Amino acid sequence: MKVSGGPIEVVSTDGVCLELADGSTLIDGIASWWTACHGYKHPHIVDAIVRQVQSMPHVMLGGIVHEQVLHLSRRLARLTLGDDAMCFFSESGSVAVEVALKIAVQYWINQGATERKRFACFQGAYHGDTTGAMSVCDAEDSMHSHFKGYLIEQFQAAVPETDAQRAVFSAWLEQHQSGLAGVIIEPLVQMAAGMRMHSAEAVSFIAAECNKWGLLLIADEIATGFGRTGTMFAHQQARVRPDILCVGKALTGGTLPLAATIASAKVYEPFHSNRTEHALMHGPTFMGNPAACAAANASLDLFEEDAEANRLLQVGQIESILQNELQTLLECSRVLDVRIKGAIAAVQLDEMIDVDDAMAFFRDEGTFVRPLRDVVYLAPSFTINEDELRMLCAAIAHFVAR
Ligand SMILES: Cc1ncc(COP(=O)(O)O)c(C=O)c1O
Repeated sequence: MKVSGGPIEVVSTDGVCLELADGSTLIDGIASWWTACHGYKHPHIVDAIVRQVQSMPHVMLGGIVHEQVLHLSRRLARLTLGDDAMCFFSESGSVAVEVALKIAVQYWINQGATERKRFACFQGAYHGDTTGAMSVCDAEDSMHSHFKGYLIEQFQAAVPETDAQRAVFSAWLEQHQSGLAGVIIEPLVQMAAGMRMHSAEAVSFIAAECNKWGLLLIADEIATGFGRTGTMFAHQQARVRPDILCVGKALTGGTLPLAATIASAKVYEPFHSNRTEHALMHGPTFMGNPAACAAANASLDLFEEDAEANRLLQVGQIESILQNELQTLLECSRVLDVRIKGAIAAVQLDEMIDVDDAMAFFRDEGTFVRPLRDVVYLAPSFTINEDELRMLCAAIAHFVAR
């Protein structure tokens, strides 16, 4: 608080824009941390929330159930791990990851394997801010690294792209698999690490290794889910099926807080028991909030029904504009790398970026862009039009050239 500049006061949102207290408007390049996939205030989602709040804003999900959560569970299961998958709802991505880790550990405990309590995870990973989630983030180079010693030590490897990295990963799994519950990965893009990207082949290699050693594969698609990388879920590009999948962020189209941990039927099986101690003991007060579930159902309607403005098609169009507008920045000596995947673009510079200074620059350009470390990036709403997107790209080009 002491060293960072004051925040920009926003009074309302419209389309892909932020309307500020001083009457000006900024084109938003990052869609509120990648959540507002249909643009802000989509009327179909707003109507669904209003209707739900008028009839039942909230009811606890212990011993009670409601249609919005049942409907959403069925839809998410069908869309991801299969009709027989099970969903656990929470209010944030971090908690969804926490629940995924607990499910994986208890999956083994319920079958008598009490030693399997660790995870393999990856350099550059970011999975959230709660304790378990922090333990599977990059241990050396993340905002959580000063908690080393407080957190459970996990096994951390480079995402296995090269033969040498694959050999190291395989050898480690072979040696330690009896103490491991599973492997957790952000498929294709490690967003919070600065949009670091890896191949679908690396993801399928990891899945094959999990298969070989009988480990659970957890895909954290909190950032990449719902079209961001060009397919509905990033893991689909690697043609793998995780055992547990975490979603959040764009689940409600960026309107209300909701996340889900989706477990395959295989994972659920040892919990479906006559012994009460086999149940998953985790119950956030606001889990399955009806208004948030209504928003998520409405968001899924837009993915399914909005044929005229097909979201994945829009992501493809965004990707080609980003390629055309930003790849040439590689010619600039300050630019080390340009990475583009779906509706994500990262321009990596040769030095750390002063965030306040950069935000002020982008504000003067009529845009909202908030760099991450040495990376200026875009992850806009999928409904952004060509002119707005080109304006964001031009602002980045001006920033790099200054
Ligand atoms: C891949 C990934 N996992 C988990 C999280 C944590 O989600 P939340 O901020 O909703 O707790 C994030 C947030 O950026 C994320 O990108």
